[in-house]
Amino acid sequence: MPRPSLLITRPLPDSVVARLRQSYAATVHSEAQGLSADALLSALRSYDAISPTITDKLTAELLRSPGLKTQIVANFGAGFEHIDVQAAKQANLVVTNTPDALTDATAQLTLLLILMTSRRAGEGERLLRAGQWTGWAPTQMLGSDVQGKTLGLVGFGRIAKEAARRVRAALGMRIAYHSRTRASADDEAALGAEHHASLQSLLKASDVVSLHCPGGAATRHMIDAGALQRMKPTAILINTARGSIVDEAALANALSMRQIAAAGLDVYEREPAISATLRQLENVVLLPHLGSATLEARTAMGMQMADNLDAFFSGRTPPNRVA
Ligand code: 8YV
Repeated sequence: MPRPSLLITRPLPDSVVARLRQSYAATVHSEAQGLSADALLSALRSYDAISPTITDKLTAELLRSPGLKTQIVANFGAGFEHIDVQAAKQANLVVTNTPDALTDATAQLTLLLILMTSRRAGEGERLLRAGQWTGWAPTQMLGSDVQGKTLGLVGFGRIAKEAARRVRAALGMRIAYHSRTRASADDEAALGAEHHASLQSLLKASDVVSLHCPGGAATRHMIDAGALQRMKPTAILINTARGSIVDEAALANALSMRQIAAAGLDVYEREPAISATLRQLENVVLLPHLGSATLEARTAMGMQMADNLDAFFSGRTPPNRVA
């Protein structure tokens, strides 16, 4: 039997590609940029399987096109709002994701951004690199201590819980959360997490607000000008989830007006474009979507993706099927 054909839309860690080449006639699209809509359509018409990433928009229009050959879209990544899942289902396409492999790495990044913003690390580094540091001074660049303060998590899935566990242990913060579904009493007790029935109440009560909900239409601009107004003037906003959750222009405005104290961002509304105002502000830390960017996490994501493909092509239900 010929091996199933597989298109991997971006270069992946060597060990992942080597494993995939053992079982699939795998083609790696080796350019750093993703595929155009035309290239994606032609891939859907010629490969048995496609492994896309966040930058490959598998829209309803593409997935409703006639003559598709692809049977499975095995996404490299946890978030899959770039794939129109309804249209995929209608086209009898199986869709999988990699939800577990990046939990630790993304939770670590949440801690990094909390510390970088509260201790003004980016600002300090810029000062020093600009040759403007005049030496230690007792009142220079004072940050704020997060110990004993409240971390408010928006969303309470795997990454949020892992971030909470680490923040509690390492930084001594109190944990609060708001999510569509309330966690079990055991889960809440394990993290000492206080549930807030409304986002408004969580925003009001938190010293650091960290976003951990999925992207997509349902959460678009959940953090808008009104939400930012509800936050404390001393509060910090952290986003390691999806840029679309925050109205970036409203955030830039709130940060310039010091309506909130700071923000730590890893994701943006129109990646890789970033608001010019944000780039000029000192009270924001800007990282280039590094959430899962460790060799370990990206390898684990690739292996989880390969597990999903292997299950599908051996007639089993893929472990991380989302459609
Ligand atoms: C991934 C992510 O690197 O998995 C996710 O949802 O946000 C990232 O960390 C990216 O999505 C790859 O597709």
